[in-house]
Amino acid sequence: MIAAISGIRACVFDAYGTLFNYAAAAAGCRDTLGDKHGPLTVLWRDKQLQYTWLRAVQGRHADFWQVTGDALDFALATLGIRDAALRSRLMDLYMTLDAFPEVPDMLKRLKAGGLKTAILSNGSPDMLRAAVASAKIGPLLDAVLSVEDVGVYKPHPRVYQLAVDRLGIERNAISFQSSNAWDAYAASAFGMRVVWCNRYGQRPERLPGKPDREIKSLAELPQLLGV
Ligand code: LAC
Repeated sequence: MIAAISGIRACVFDAYGTLFNYAAAAAGCRDTLGDKHGPLTVLWRDKQLQYTWLRAVQGRHADFWQVTGDALDFALATLGIRDAALRSRLMDLYMTLDAFPEVPDMLKRLKAGGLKTAILSNGSPDMLRAAVASAKIGPLLDAVLSVEDVGVYKPHPRVYQLAVDRLGIERNAISFQSSNAWDAYAASAFGMRVVWCNRYGQRPERLPGKPDREIKSLAELPQLLGV
């Protein structure tokens, strides 16, 4: 058994890929996409993240809905797909992605253990509101924080500072959970405690920071935090 992390007062979660399954959008259009739903998921996600990083470096922020749509257009063009109805279906599904199955119970256990819970995400406030509502996890969250409040994407340190400021809890008493290795490393470099939920079997990053623990599913988190 992995040793518990002590002194944590709040758990902050990345949204896409960590709480919400972004693969559900293309999978929900398998009837039209066929075997291309897998490649589309990967291309769409990779391009979406690239655009966030590129826009952050250029100082040309646009919200995550815009970036997600732009990335989808790039991915569809790459796969030679021209289908306006499909595009709109994919975007609608992205708005109300499924939560991973362990998420509601895991959040309940953290709350019962006296911990604060929050989302800290690139997602726009509308996107996060819709995803939280469709997963019915609103009552289990103390805060839903969007990078729109700081106008720059992860991994800018201002994003991680937003959680510290809004929760009023010092960085080393916050446990940050992300399935995105680069996000986990950045939060660690910022000074949060970090649990890397490595759902996708990613390799360790060669970047500043080092996650405190690595797990495969968020179901392992409450025990790791001693609740
Ligand atoms: C987010 C992306 C990085 O939710 O998954 O912030």
